[in-house]
Amino acid sequence: MELKTAIVTGASSGIGLAISKMLSSEGYKVYGIGRIFPEDADFFEKRISLDIRDTDILLKKISEIKKVDLLVNAAGSAYYGLAEFNTADQIKEMCRTDLEAPMILTSALIPKLKDTKGMVINIASVTSTRINTHGAAYGALKAGLRSYGRSLYEEVRKTGIRVVTVCPDLTLGTKLYRNADFTPSEDEGCYLLPEDTSECVRSVINMREGAAVTEVEVRPQFNRIEKKKKD
Ligand SMILES: NC(=O)c1ccc[n+]([C@@H]2O[C@H](COP(=O)([O-])OP(=O)(O)OC[C@H]3O[C@@H](n4cnc5c(N)ncnc54)[C@H](OP(=O)(O)O)[C@@H]3O)[C@@H](O)[C@H]2O)c1
Repeated sequence: MELKTAIVTGASSGIGLAISKMLSSEGYKVYGIGRIFPEDADFFEKRISLDIRDTDILLKKISEIKKVDLLVNAAGSAYYGLAEFNTADQIKEMCRTDLEAPMILTSALIPKLKDTKGMVINIASVTSTRINTHGAAYGALKAGLRSYGRSLYEEVRKTGIRVVTVCPDLTLGTKLYRNADFTPSEDEGCYLLPEDTSECVRSVINMREGAAVTEVEVRPQFNRIEKKKKD
């Protein structure tokens, strides 16, 4: 039987890397998109190193993949703090990475996903349904991604394509908070691991044909963050 093929963005780190590894264990050929991959990530069919904001290169690279069963949009960037202090460059980077790129990739791949009755999984965030002081722009983009997924599903469900929005909460072992003045708390029960979300995705992709999970939140038991210590 021909192997299923997945394209995963954000595949070089954190949640996207964990999802790529899980998909490989499920027998998928995984085309990972990122910038700098860990050297030991040898389970990829191909590691595609590019800046996802470079639309021409992105579209050229994915046009070379003939069959696509699954698209996972996991690439993301985040800047926090009061909106007053978000710079134009930070806002542009988040808009292009967190919302523009997933929509461009999805539009380009819908014809191939129709052929396979495939699936789109968007990694949004619990911020997509909340008020996010000190994260207004990031939360707005994740809300946009969630809205996009809900509408897209209604457009394409008749073709057999499924669209899933996955909303993780604070996750340790990723680089997302490198620009923040806080991190998830390392106290037991206060954080997720990337594998919690990849296991959730495993159960979603293994739903029987004809049944669809459209949205799912993944949350730690307790709700706590920690301020980073100043040097
Ligand atoms: N961590 C959390 O608590 C959390 C919670 C909810 C939702 N999320 C969402 O989960 C997703 C994965 O984030 P993560 O937590 O795993 O963070 P991460 O470790 O920082 O991973 C982000 C990924 O996106 C890629 N990426 C960012 N900008 C890119 C660009 N311009 N071009 C190409 N690739 C780019 C990174 O590639 P390189 O490293 O190679 O640059 C990396 O693979 C994001 O969409 C994030 O918003 C995370």
